[in-house]
Amino acid sequence: MSFLNNDKNAEGVDSSVYLTLREERRISRENAKIIKKYEREKNRKKVDEKEYLTEMRDPSNVVEIENLHTYFYTDVGVVKSVNGVSFDIPQGKIVGVVGESGCGKSVTSLSIMQLVPGPTGQIVEGSIRYKASDGKCYEITKMPRDRMLKIRGKDIAMIFQEPMTSLNPVFKIGYQMDEVVLLHEEESTPESAKKKSIEMLKQVGIADPEKVYASYPHELSGGMRQRVMIAMALICNPRLIIADEPTTALDVTIQAQILELLREIKEKINGSIMLITHDLGVIAEMADIVVVMYAGRIIEQGTVKEIFHSPKHPYTIGLMKSRPGRHIKEGEKLYSIKGQVPNPINMPDYCYFYNRCDKAMRVCSQGYPDLIKFSPTHYAACYLYNEDGSEKSAEEKERR
Ligand SMILES: Nc1ncnc2c1ncn2[C@@H]1O[C@H](COP(=O)(O)OP(=O)(O)O)[C@@H](O)[C@H]1O
Ligand code: SF4
Ligand SMILES: [Mg+2]
Repeated sequence: MSFLNNDKNAEGVDSSVYLTLREERRISRENAKIIKKYEREKNRKKVDEKEYLTEMRDPSNVVEIENLHTYFYTDVGVVKSVNGVSFDIPQGKIVGVVGESGCGKSVTSLSIMQLVPGPTGQIVEGSIRYKASDGKCYEITKMPRDRMLKIRGKDIAMIFQEPMTSLNPVFKIGYQMDEVVLLHEEESTPESAKKKSIEMLKQVGIADPEKVYASYPHELSGGMRQRVMIAMALICNPRLIIADEPTTALDVTIQAQILELLREIKEKINGSIMLITHDLGVIAEMADIVVVMYAGRIIEQGTVKEIFHSPKHPYTIGLMKSRPGRHIKEGEKLYSIKGQVPNPINMPDYCYFYNRCDKAMRVCSQGYPDLIKFSPTHYAACYLYNEDGSEKSAEEKERR
């Protein structure tokens, strides 16, 4: 027998899921069948391009994600990590994605790159449209693996929290950077690749690029490794940079330098950035658009001004209050949102924030709320508001 989590929800009800060995085996057999179907699809060779060519809804976007569902088929059940996410990444803009640990930020970004850890992790529904540098629009969810390889690393670059996930400890920096250039640029030679690598190291603010070029990753400091990783990610002039907690492991001064560097590079290449972080300070400083995720869904999105000056969803309001800053008086405790996120294998069919929300009404436990539009750019999923975006009256809330 195994169990998933032993938290109790607001009503004190134990939400653990107990499974017998027999049930586990049954789940495992069912999973294998489902996974096989998805894997077969992805491994197809010589697929006609028409099957995955598409058109953008708005040509000013680089990425359009619509109703994305990415699940993990584990032996204890299906983890719905991304459960109906939709947002756009416009050309030349920084989209900040925030939310507590485990809310699906990384899995969303890995879905864009077709890098969801398989075979248990699969995109099961939805659309990811991508406008590539060749002028074509691709439906990433339908692209075969071999085609995606050409886009990944060249058109879309990813910067991770931990540089050692993309740097190989046994090869020198120069070798690893040259390899990226040689792979993605047909006309490149070993000499031109070296020149480009050193130039890129210089561009990310490394004072002694030749020395770093000839070093192994472990010979560099954390901040230097992060710079190298950024240089490596940017070496083929990507149109989209996905930065997943790029500065979390760094100290504050280096953090500021790396963020400044990202911004500069974005301006230089007029690219777009999807910036994932749980640090609202970073979002306030960098993002144009903010997407707030909670338990695999987007519960609010808007421009940085809308989210910081008039947050609508009680979770976003809570996040804003929990932000360390000048509004905290000395000695006053930082606000933290009470309770826990629901079990990802057993998501409720009503508002996921219900057990933590101090504004919850009866209606909130009777179905998942629709997105309410507050402006052409500002949305939130919450029953506190009327369809026209106005807040419900106290009597109305009482009645519901
Ligand atoms: N390889 C995996 N197998 C099973 N579950 C996973 C896997 N990777 C992520 N998850 C689950 O998916 C959810 C979202 O994870 P993630 O996107 O990494 O969150 P975060 O917002 O912290 O980046 C979490 O509940 C996590 O446990
Ligand atoms: S829908 Fe209800 S429970 Fe959910 S966040 Fe809004 S007020 Fe709270
Ligand atoms: Mg993450």
